[in-house]
Amino acid sequence: MYQQHQFSCPIITGWGAVSVLGEKILELGKRRPLVVCDKGIVEAGITEKVGTVLREAGLEFTVYDGVKPDPSAEIVDEAVEAGLAFGCDCVIGLGGGSSMDTAKASTVRLSGYEGLTKDYVLAVPLKLETSVPVILVPTTTGTGSEVTRVAVISRPEFNVKWSVHLKNTTLAIVDPQLTVTLPRKETANTGLDALAHATEALTSKGADIYSDLFAVAAIEKIADNLFRSWSDPEDNEARTNMAVAANWAGLAFDCPMCHLPHAIGDAFGCHFHTEHGHSCSLGLAEGMRLVAPVRSEKMAVIAKAMGIPLTGNETGTELGDLVADWIYALMRRMEFVSLHSMGISREEVVACAKDVSVNHLASYCPVTVTEEIAAEVLGRLYDNYQ
Ligand SMILES: [Fe+2]
Repeated sequence: MYQQHQFSCPIITGWGAVSVLGEKILELGKRRPLVVCDKGIVEAGITEKVGTVLREAGLEFTVYDGVKPDPSAEIVDEAVEAGLAFGCDCVIGLGGGSSMDTAKASTVRLSGYEGLTKDYVLAVPLKLETSVPVILVPTTTGTGSEVTRVAVISRPEFNVKWSVHLKNTTLAIVDPQLTVTLPRKETANTGLDALAHATEALTSKGADIYSDLFAVAAIEKIADNLFRSWSDPEDNEARTNMAVAANWAGLAFDCPMCHLPHAIGDAFGCHFHTEHGHSCSLGLAEGMRLVAPVRSEKMAVIAKAMGIPLTGNETGTELGDLVADWIYALMRRMEFVSLHSMGISREEVVACAKDVSVNHLASYCPVTVTEEIAAEVLGRLYDNYQ
């Protein structure tokens, strides 16, 4: 019995680390980056800050700032066209998961794959070799997209979120200083997304000794720092710890993949247009409760990492209840909005069961996710978080 774990790319971390971006591009032998971001990043002054770093390195660049939440294949094609028009030779993904995923997906066509991006974003993800370097610079503390090879892209014509996998990305630069302007709501959403990545990786059918290591460390840091960074956005130590935790959670799930809570998150994102972190968090507690009986040892590890006192005699089911209660309590403390209070009915939520059960992520869940089981989980999450 053996396992293989593949890390995605080198990682540079540290307060102010983005200052090395220009020299790293020059080291790659590249001179004309395409910066992919959204208008919020521009308005926060982060694009200008990165632009200054690039100019100081003598690099000419262009900016595509049209990324939207849950980016579609058409948005990726817009970024590609901007890169082709400029003659870019590398791509910088600057922002949250949407910007980084758009940047990653744009390298498919920029590397010479013909047709449109939608030809490569399929229900069963393709794994593609790309040649255009992509450097990923997160400005949120949750997605982990800077160290994963998956790009999640919407196909609105089918009302689904599918993905494409790159065989390799180039470089991640994790600079906590870029996260200090992150609003409270996004701090909560992205932080819980990171918690979902770590707990799902740990309980995934694909978990290995390396993903376990990063997942546990990430859960401990999130438990200590997420509420702190939400309640005091100027707590730079908590911001730094969350940036690191989110990165570790990304490293944790890149190989084993997330499972049921993210499958639920994809369905909620498509049907109710809730943000990714919000969507996944809503399914997280019930996802953990479902898998706890068949992952009791892992659930004890999760509970301990969260700081939940244990006697050591708890059953898997009891551990699942403790972990689920802890997650719901954190969500309440950070004023997470429930589906009920958004005016969404229980019937509408349960109607997502088919989409959840056929999502490829559901196949990584250690409990087989039939449509009936998905419906039970969806009903429970609606009832238990109102
Ligand atoms: Fe996520």
